[in-house]
Amino acid sequence: MPVAEDLAPPARERRLRLMGAGLGSSAEAHEHRLLRAARPALPVLNWLGQFANPLMRVPKLGWITADPRTARALLNDPAHLTLLSEGGVGHLWAQILGDWVTELFDGPGHHELRTRSKGLFTEPTSRAFVERAWGDRLRLARERFEAGEELDLAELSRVLVGQMVTTLLGMPVDRSRGDAAYLEIFATGEQLAAIALGTTADTELPPNKVRQARAIVERLTAHVDAAFSDASGDTVIGRCRELGLTLQQTKGLATLLMVAGTETAASAMARMAALLADTGEQHRLIAEPEHREDAVRETLRVTSPAPIIGRAVLADLEIGGRTLRSGDRVLVLTWTANNLAGAFRIDRPYLPQHRQLWFGAGRHLCLGGPLAKAELQAVLELLIGDGRPFEIVSRRYGRRVLIPAYASLVVRKV
Ligand code: HEM
Repeated sequence: MPVAEDLAPPARERRLRLMGAGLGSSAEAHEHRLLRAARPALPVLNWLGQFANPLMRVPKLGWITADPRTARALLNDPAHLTLLSEGGVGHLWAQILGDWVTELFDGPGHHELRTRSKGLFTEPTSRAFVERAWGDRLRLARERFEAGEELDLAELSRVLVGQMVTTLLGMPVDRSRGDAAYLEIFATGEQLAAIALGTTADTELPPNKVRQARAIVERLTAHVDAAFSDASGDTVIGRCRELGLTLQQTKGLATLLMVAGTETAASAMARMAALLADTGEQHRLIAEPEHREDAVRETLRVTSPAPIIGRAVLADLEIGGRTLRSGDRVLVLTWTANNLAGAFRIDRPYLPQHRQLWFGAGRHLCLGGPLAKAELQAVLELLIGDGRPFEIVSRRYGRRVLIPAYASLVVRKV
């Protein structure tokens, strides 16, 4: 059994890879182009991250770190760091949703919300959500794919994520419109996320963006008021009520799920397919299906769909030989931290120092982690469940998007 360190590439090779240098048309080159197409500054910041050992101060941005232990220590330190002040995502949300966010997104209110919502996404409930939301659509896609039809997996991912959101939140949807209805829901979530684009250096939103964002949130959660009192316990709305959440908390959580769980999940699905094909690891996975769970973990590590996590320093703090001052900003570069461990390979062992850094850490650790994993397992089954490999016919990277993702990834059975 190899240990994690044996599989880490030498330092020089690692640096070149992080810069995207000399990668030709490999899996890593495609990942780099994808990041650059999404946000041109991202590969530069990711590359810079490797020198943040354990922390580095960058003018206009604040502190950056790509050291997994430092990253986890920071994310586990709510006494010194917050996501509510300038620099954190809660600061963005407070401007859009209102001051009550301060209660719900951090501190005791957040702790209570997380305690109450703990049982929402477990492994079994997540598998059940996947079957209920996707079962029929996935079976249809698989039938056609295995019959030799081309499949745009990036588009299908957006449809599936739209279906998941409507199922989770019990949103009314005109099913007669088929995929178009779900693509529209995905696009609405994307518009909301786009409001956060350009806020890496400053989380203060101009009034027009606040107005736009409020209108989108209203469109996405308007049904919650009417649904709350009698939504079935197998929707998130009903479950929230049963868990004792208030209507306002439920609306807040619904908005969070829309934003946190749509683009990230869709991004990982198509990128997993690309990684499996580009690295050739799909052949090994077909021969060694016992590595399926590892392949999902590797996908999450290498893609790290939420590449940066922002926090603001609340009170002076000594860490890694540096003093972070109250009011400073900190960016945890999850993509760099995770990718310094080496390239995608399905038999890479669990990395104890990283744990699940792609889902964050501490009290804001991704609530939907088990759901995201169940979703990726289902897509893996679609891709290679019949034991036959696939190939990439064409691909297009998404441009100017918050979460780096394929706009299109057309695959077919070989
Ligand atoms: C590959 C898919 C996903 C990735 C990479 C991901 C990543 C993350 C990360 C890094 C955070 C922490 C943010 C921070 O600390 O500021 C987070 C939080 C969160 N995620 Fe996910 N996520 C994914 C899918 C999902 C899904 C499917 C859902 C639910 C439907 C979800 C719901 C949430 C929620 C509600 C939070 C906020 C938790 C809190 O603040 O307490 N995520 N996610």
